[in-house]
Parts: sequence; C-alpha cells; structure tokens
Amino acid sequence: MSDFIVFGGINMDLFAYVPRSTQEGETIEASSVEFYLGGKGANQAVALSRLGAEVSFVGTLGEDQFGKELEALVSAEKIDLKNLRKQDGQSGVALINVLKDGRNEVISFPGVNKKTSSKYVSEKDLKSCSILIGQMELEDSQTNDLFIRAKKNNCLTLLNLAPFRMPSSSLLKNTDVLIVNETEFAGLLNKKSNKLDLDFVLKNIPTLNFLSKTKLIVTLGSLGVVTFSEGETKYFESRKVDAIDTVGAGDCFLGALGFSLKKNSDIFKATEFANCAASISVTRKGAAESMPSFDEVVKIL
Ligand code: RIB
Repeated sequence: MSDFIVFGGINMDLFAYVPRSTQEGETIEASSVEFYLGGKGANQAVALSRLGAEVSFVGTLGEDQFGKELEALVSAEKIDLKNLRKQDGQSGVALINVLKDGRNEVISFPGVNKKTSSKYVSEKDLKSCSILIGQMELEDSQTNDLFIRAKKNNCLTLLNLAPFRMPSSSLLKNTDVLIVNETEFAGLLNKKSNKLDLDFVLKNIPTLNFLSKTKLIVTLGSLGVVTFSEGETKYFESRKVDAIDTVGAGDCFLGALGFSLKKNSDIFKATEFANCAASISVTRKGAAESMPSFDEVVKIL
C-alpha cells in the first residue's frame, strides 16, 4: 500500500547530445548518444521514491527488448511495481535532442502506454493513497476515470498537463492542483504567444475560469515559477545553476511538489521545495536518472 500513486507513461529515452537544433534536410553529429529510463510517469515516481516517499507506479511496458531493459531500470528504484503491467506491442520511446545550453527537443512514441487502464488500480489501492499524480501521456478517458475515483476516495489529485491537450471539464473538475509550463499555459488560454514571460502569465492567470477550486502552478524554466491558490498569486525565482540537461525537470518538480504537500499542505512552501529539487535535476544528465535525494534538496534549501 502506497501513499502516492503515479499513473503515467514509461519510455526508453534515447538522448543525443548535440550542439544545436538541426535544420530541415541537415545531418549533424552528436557528441554522445545515451539511453535512460524516462516517461513522465516513471520520472515522477522516481523523483518521489528518491525523496523517500512510498510510491506505486501504474503503467504498461511492451513485450519487447526495451520493455525488458526498462523493467530492470525501474526495478532498481524503491517503487511499488505491482501495477506495472506488460502488454503485447512496443514500449514507449522518446527521441530527445539535448542542445548545448541544456534546452531540449522531444519526440515521443507512446506505444503500449496507451493501453494502460485505470482498472489496474483497485479501490483498495486508492483507499490507502493520499496523493494521485497523472499527466497526459495515457488515454484521457483512463486518466479521467482514475481522477474521478481518486476524488471519491479523498485523494489529493495533481495533474501535469504534458504533453499538452486541452483537459476535459470533468478532468479539470477532479484536479486539485494543475501544473503547466509556459507553453501549456498558453495552450490553456488558446493563445499563441511569442512572449511567454512572467508578465504574460501574471496578466492571464485571472482570465482562467476554473481557478475557484483548482490551484495552478506555471513553471517558467530559468524565469521561475508562479503559483496561484485561493486568490493569491506568488512568484518564485529559479536558482541560478549551470543547466546541462533540462529533460525531466518538470517531472522532478511534480514529484517533489507531491512529496512536500504530503508533509505540509501549504502549496507555496511545496512550490519552493519543488523549485529547489528541479534546479538540482537540470545539472545532471538523463530524466529519471537526474532526480535528487531528500538530503540533497534540504542541503540547498
Ligand atoms: O518529461 C520528460 C519525459 O518526456 C522524457 O523522459 C520522455 O520520455 C518524455 O515522455
């Protein structure tokens, strides 16, 4: 029985460390190519477990070579995997270019992640769970169903709107904390903006019509984080670090946010903790691989 359930994707991440983006029709050389455990769900579960939480990861692996390798990688973390199933088909894969300045470009192939069912999670699992974390890597109908059941069992629900799709009104209604990055925030507003900065976020938060019940966190990378809760908006600067790889930083933020909320329900304190954890993850390669321990975060806080 786990305090946390993470319902999400698990991928084999193929990282190419490259000097810059490619142009159409162009071939460039990578300085290295590396394989890591990834998928937003798996990354968030690893973030939680490395901080010391009891977490159950719910997802699907394919009956293929990547499935075997991913199973070995995720089994090395202290995560309850009883609801990680195997199904016929290809495991999820993400092709990731990490540019010199740490920014990234990601193409993901969901594969059997899309076969993950909310039915993997029993009522007994939900009864013992305090916090459920989901993203948009699985079928919306399954995430929606699990969020409805989680709320009936009084779990706190955290939704990471990545990869971006407009959430249904039902999913939003059953989400306690919605976490988006700047691009997803613009998507929520149905806006295309070239200037996705702090001013844009602060100006547009009040125009969202679902914030009477749902808390909102907008992560802005090196520009910081904005948290909105019950009419109050707070801005948090990001720690200045030498970022080498930002893949998984959002997932680190999610896991650390959930971890902190379980200890203390103050969303602003939890944002500070999560912001600090994410600032450590960007100084390391890989997604799940880059998640910090509790002691590492506390030392910096
Ligand atoms: O958030 C980072 C993750 O997104 C990567 O690990 C990759 O698998 C993609 O799903």
